[in-house]
Amino acid sequence: MNVRPARVEDLAGMQACNLQNLPENYTMKYYLYHALSWPQLSYVAEDHKGRIVGYILAKMEEDVTDGDEPHGHVTSISVLRSYRRLGLAKRLMVQSQEAMATVYRASYVSLHVRKSNRAALALYKDTLGFTVKEIEKKYYADGEDAYAMRLSLKHLA
Ligand code: ACO
Repeated sequence: MNVRPARVEDLAGMQACNLQNLPENYTMKYYLYHALSWPQLSYVAEDHKGRIVGYILAKMEEDVTDGDEPHGHVTSISVLRSYRRLGLAKRLMVQSQEAMATVYRASYVSLHVRKSNRAALALYKDTLGFTVKEIEKKYYADGEDAYAMRLSLKHLA
């Protein structure tokens, strides 16, 4: 499986993958905004026929409050069910994190994840080393809480 930077022509495939995998969905305008604003931060995983089987949609945080350092944010990541546990999400995360640090001097990366999302939590905490910054109550539309997580990227800068 090949992992490469996402291009504008990949966005429909990324959106289709997102719709299959997650209840948090986004307009095409929002995908386009990511791809045009931070073209180095979003990646796709494709099969041997070039079909998109996973993606990471990521950005630099724009609402940086006083005293906060520039940081990246993972808007969404998912991998189609039959391509899971092959290391694709880890590869997508690592590629995006490296670009956040080297291209944009991000000092850390943040994300939100559902408290019940066991697979994603294992990926973030155990494989990548994220820690929980805080719990955001009723963050999701259905009322579930989110863990707001962070990982320092200072070693990559
Ligand atoms: N159970 C336990 N640990 C898991 C699981 C699981 N089901 N899946 C991944 N992990 C952990 C393991 O430690 C794994 O390493 P190992 O396989 O050597 O044990 C490690 O994460 C790396 O796994 P990958 O193979 O890289 O992960 P995968 O490509 O399967 O994708 C993902 C993981 C993205 C969470 C996938 O299960 C998925 O698409 N789920 C549905 C969508 C989703 O929940 N996305 C995240 C939402 S939060 C957000 O987008 C910011």
